[in-house]
Order: sequence, then structure tokens, then C-alpha cells
Amino acid sequence: MPIPDWSKIKTLAPQRLDALFAADGERLAKFSLDVAGIHFDWSKTHLTADSVAAFSDIAGTMGFTAKRDALFAGEVVNVTEGRAVEHSAERGEGAPESVARARAYQARMRALIDAIEAGALGPIRHILHVGIGGSALGPDLLVDALGRDADRYDVAIVSNVDGAALDEATKRFDPQATLLAIASKTFTTTETMLNAESAIAWMAEGGLADPYGQVVALTASPDRAIAWGVDETRILPFAESVGGRYSLWSSIGFPAALALGWDAFEELLEGAGEMDRHFRLSPLDKNAPALAAFADLYYTQARGCETRGVFAYDERLRLLPSYLQQLEMESNGKRVTVDGESVSYPTAPITWGGVGTDQQHAVFQLLHQGTHLVPVEFLGVVEPGDTQSDDHHRQLLLNMCAQGAALMAGRGHADPARTYPGDRPSSTLLLDRLDPRTLGALIAFYEARTFVNGVLLGINSFDQFGVELGKEMAKAADQGGLEFDPSTTDLIARAFP
Ligand code: F6P
Repeated sequence: MPIPDWSKIKTLAPQRLDALFAADGERLAKFSLDVAGIHFDWSKTHLTADSVAAFSDIAGTMGFTAKRDALFAGEVVNVTEGRAVEHSAERGEGAPESVARARAYQARMRALIDAIEAGALGPIRHILHVGIGGSALGPDLLVDALGRDADRYDVAIVSNVDGAALDEATKRFDPQATLLAIASKTFTTTETMLNAESAIAWMAEGGLADPYGQVVALTASPDRAIAWGVDETRILPFAESVGGRYSLWSSIGFPAALALGWDAFEELLEGAGEMDRHFRLSPLDKNAPALAAFADLYYTQARGCETRGVFAYDERLRLLPSYLQQLEMESNGKRVTVDGESVSYPTAPITWGGVGTDQQHAVFQLLHQGTHLVPVEFLGVVEPGDTQSDDHHRQLLLNMCAQGAALMAGRGHADPARTYPGDRPSSTLLLDRLDPRTLGALIAFYEARTFVNGVLLGINSFDQFGVELGKEMAKAADQGGLEFDPSTTDLIARAFP
């Protein structure tokens, strides 16, 4: 397996952003793209024709085209776990047999949704979805972003094992009118199974003679769900080849499909499919996920950036940064190559962020004047989603634009404390509107970008062994018999006086 050679990138003389604009009147046109209702602007990053060419060369060395083809063909690309990676089959892009299987699972999901809507499980008004990680972050993002005006069902996504999270949902729900959706690919995750058991107990205490009759399982392990007590007719399976953090397109998206309606869920898949086709068919220098990944890699490999900030100037996208944290850090936070060799270069940066304009009054000080260089990503939506005066939306988007300009331009001053160095990079994604189709395309864009990063880094983006050790130790601590270090032993003793 080849090793990426970053020297071509590192030896490019860094130029200031304002100089790059001054030198090339076509810069904006060259470094912006419109795909699937999203305008992408990388002109305020340090990408140049030379760096794009150098990254394209690295992509060639790393066998990018063959790897992308293998991904969409359903070949085993998750080599450490011996699995194909087929979330794109959910949106119609992939091996024909995988697409057909996804369609069959979707038909089953739709039929169950129709039955629930027709009252087959009683007068359901509340959806209590328990799941964690990819089994919660995706549906939570969808429902929060798109379901604010939907009045079909009241949805609560409970992930944390902290009982306070479940309390918050059960407090406002009527057990008689609640559907419990247990979302777990493996159907073994401790937090989810405990939340599910406690939810069943709450339903029983609420007078339900058969709480299991109001349970739906969203899983790639139907046998475990049946053994747990879920009726076979209410199991919505998905393929083992759909990874946890890529699973919102599958039955894990069930609460979103219920809350938003089936047509909206289908539009979400179609939007993602449109981005898939763009990613699959466009040359690298006109390919949105590839260009975004090149910028990511430029800052980690050539400029030593250890983090990247994502700021959504739209309240409806407030959960996007946490969604991206799992997608990007669980995928590319690795220290060995696909061959198991230690990497000698940084892999995924730390993804963090929040919403604008709130974060301007909290963390932007560091972005403008701190010692860390943080590439920033702004997201805005042209069509407002609020019912306030136009002034709100105008202020929101003008702030977003102004922040990008200020980061780049900086401002000199006699007083060093009042000096802004400028030349701080940002990229901007401007969505025409926030609807299922555009959100689907946006999420698929981030998935593909994560994939490009992984291929060029020479790592496997699809395993997540890093989360296992802590889980195992928590289990061992629960069961006893494991000797911990003095500090941990003391903390456990103090936590359970
Ligand atoms: O934290 C590790 C992880 O496996 C994630 O990748 C996954 O999204 C989450 O746990 C939940 O897993 P499951 O869906 O199997 O409960």
C-alpha cells in the first residue's frame, strides 16, 4: 500500500489569501461550485491550482479512483472488519443487488409506517427513540433540522445512559400513546439496551398490558431483537454493510420518516443520491467532496492545524457539528494505515463548532487572534426558516459573511492587542433552502469528503476499534474482577460510597 507523499504540498510557498485574490481575478469562479442546491465557496482557503494538482497526484498514488469504484461496487473496503460499505445503496447508488435489498427493507419500513399511521398499534402520538452514536445522532439531526413545524408525532431521541435523559422524555409522554423504537445495529449496546428496558418498565407502570406490543426494533441483528422480545413483524432490518455512523439512511431513520412523512424521507435519499452521483462522476478539480478534503488535508499536513471549526448560521442545523464529530473523528481518527503501519503524519483534525451568531460571542476571539490556526467552515441557508421579521435572517447571514471577510482581511493597529493578523481561512456552504433533499445532499457531501480524506491518508475510515477498550473496562468494572490503577480504584470507591 503506497504512503502519501505530502512534500509537494508542504513545499508550496504559502501565500496570503488577499494576495491570492489579487493575483487571480478568476479565483472565486475557480474555487466555488454549485451542486444539489448547495453553493460551495473555498476561495477564502489557501487552495491553489498547484495544491489541487498536487493533491490530485496524491489521490492517483493512493489509488483513489479504484477505491471510490470499489466503494460504490460494494466490494470489501472495510478491510479490518472484512465488510463492504453500502450506505449509498440506501439512496439507489451501489451494486444492483444491494440497492434491491435496500429497497426491499425500505418497502417493509414504509408498510409499518403506514400501519402505524392507520392506528394498527393504537393511537400513537409519541415516538421514544433509544439509540446512541450513529443510532441517535443522524435521526436527531434530521428531526431537529426538518421537523420543527411537523405536527405528526412528538419525537424524543434518548441516547445517554444517564437516567435524566430518559426522564426528560418520559415526563412529557403518555405511555399509552408511545411507540418505543429501539435503534441499535448490534442490539448489544449497553446504554441502549438499558434505556430500552427502563422504557418498557415505564410503559408497564403506565398501565400498558403489553408494552412489547408498542416496540419497534431498528437493527442489523434481527435475531437478537427477537430474542430480546420484539415481535418479528415490528423489526425493521438493515444490512450489516451499513455502518453505524452512516446509518440514518436506513431504518435507523425511522423516527424521521414518521415525523416528516415518507415522501420527505424519500426526498432525503434522493438528495443524497444526487450528491453521490456528483462525487462518483466529477473530475477531482470540480468535485465538491474532493476539493473540501483537499482543503482539510492542506491545513493538517502543510499548516499543522489540529482542529477545524464548523459554524452553522442556522438554528435548524445546530446538531450538525455533533453529527460531524462522529462522522469525521470516528472515521478518520486513526493512527495506522490500512496495512497496519503507524502513520508518520497527522490524520483527522478535531472537529468542533456550534451555531452562529452565538459562537461569535464565545469562541471567535480565539479564531481571530489566538495562536492556533483553525480552518473555519460556515454554513448558511438563503431561505429563512423562521417566522420573525426579515431583519433576523438578514442579520444572521450578514454576520456569517462578515466573519469570513474579517478572518481573511484582518486589520492592522498601533496597539498589538487590537491587531487582527488576518489570513485566516474559511470555506462557506450556502444552501438554497433547508429541505429534505438539500439536507440529504449535504450529509452525503460530508460522508464523501470523509472518505476522500481517509483514502488520501491511507487509513481505513470504516472501523472504530478505538471505542472498544473503554467499553470493555466499564463492563469489567461493573462485573468486578479487574484490577484498576490506584486513581481509578479510588474514584470508583468514592462514586459508590
Ligand atoms: O461507539 C461505537 C459505535 O459502534 C458507533 O459506531 C455506533 O454508531 C454506536 O456505537 C452504536 O452502536 P449500535 O447501533 O450497535 O448500538
